[in-house]
Amino acid sequence: MLDVHRIRKDFPILERRVHGKPLVYLDNAATSQKPRAVVEALVDYYTRTNANVHRGIHTLSEEATALYEGARDRIARFIGAPKPGTVIFTRNTTESINLVSHAWGLKHVGPGDEILLTEMEHHSNLVPWQVLSQTRGAKLKFIPVTGSGTLALEELPSLLSERTKLVALTQMSNVLGTINPIQEIVRAAHAKGIPVLVDGAQGVPHLPVNVLDLNCDFLVFSSHKMLGPTGVGVLYAKEAILEEMDPFLAGGDMIRDVWLDHSVWNDLPWKFEAGTPNIADVIALGAAVDYLEKIGMDEIRAHEEALTRAALGALRQIEGITLYGPEDPAIRGAAISFNVNGIHPHDLGQLLDEEGIALRAGHHCCKPLMRKLGVAATARASFYLYNSEEEARILAQALQKAKEVFGVVAHR
Ligand SMILES: Cc1ncc(COP(=O)(O)O)c(C=O)c1O
Repeated sequence: MLDVHRIRKDFPILERRVHGKPLVYLDNAATSQKPRAVVEALVDYYTRTNANVHRGIHTLSEEATALYEGARDRIARFIGAPKPGTVIFTRNTTESINLVSHAWGLKHVGPGDEILLTEMEHHSNLVPWQVLSQTRGAKLKFIPVTGSGTLALEELPSLLSERTKLVALTQMSNVLGTINPIQEIVRAAHAKGIPVLVDGAQGVPHLPVNVLDLNCDFLVFSSHKMLGPTGVGVLYAKEAILEEMDPFLAGGDMIRDVWLDHSVWNDLPWKFEAGTPNIADVIALGAAVDYLEKIGMDEIRAHEEALTRAALGALRQIEGITLYGPEDPAIRGAAISFNVNGIHPHDLGQLLDEEGIALRAGHHCCKPLMRKLGVAATARASFYLYNSEEEARILAQALQKAKEVFGVVAHR
């Protein structure tokens, strides 16, 4: 079991009060809080080392480069990437997917080809493929979501066709919490020679992830959802795929040699990192990864499974609540979407804020999934390693209170 009490001491923001109440931060699927070690890594870098990387021969630049590339090594190890050069830094998950849709997609996807997605994708893993398919005259197909919030995998064999060029799907739904069986999907796709991109924005922060075990071709994720700073995303891809891809952005750093009329690209991973990178935030993501590894991803997953069980149990007691996503905590994460009869999720969000509870209300960048669920919006409570079962109970109590408030309003 995680010592939540001790872990919380590492996150200064959790001592805050909001509207006079202790902060209950349940918006982790949007972005996580940062431990002191991550904040200190940023401060240390700017107070002691700040210099540009890969350029100067002076001490500060050499130190900055060592810290930046050292962070890459740690992040590569964290996801089981065989070589640090297969880990590329971007701004966020969204940019990582756009990198693939441009640098890989424009080359490999042509008229009449198909890209297979799922109905539970975040807009970030949908809109770039819409743009690509419109540009190239290709078609998008979707693995349906069932009533219980899982993927209808019995349809997979018929959805994978001769024309399918890529399967791109989320590892964990940011709305339903569903953890998708990536290995099974990768096996089916690879049997037909089709590469798979895994959107790990929700998976990597919460589950032990090893790219060799998943055998995925691309993995993308964001630093800010896994205790790191905003402004850093990661793209992992198999080396042969990256070698064969052309650059996404062009300019300084991504070249080995430049003439007036042409250039030769740099080696991996720098071929995909044009211009001065987000040095400080990458280094701080390294500190976030160290922190997660120290706690242990298996332990974090076990804690969140128990939290999900407790939260679902407490929320089920509320009359008029609709919970979305799988019921079994073993196949889902701790992002829990719900609606309460007669209360708009935005009103719910505001009332809960008055109780010091931060959660998200809206379409969660999954408008097609909202339509499938037959709602415009949901409220979403999403937990992380520093959340406690007590906080799940506080949420349930606050929801009861919100119902009473709205009941009173309705009777007037
Ligand atoms: C499943 C999923 N994919 C992609 C994203 C996009 O992440 P970012 O905004 O960091 O690019 C998110 C963010 O909420 C997400 O939950």
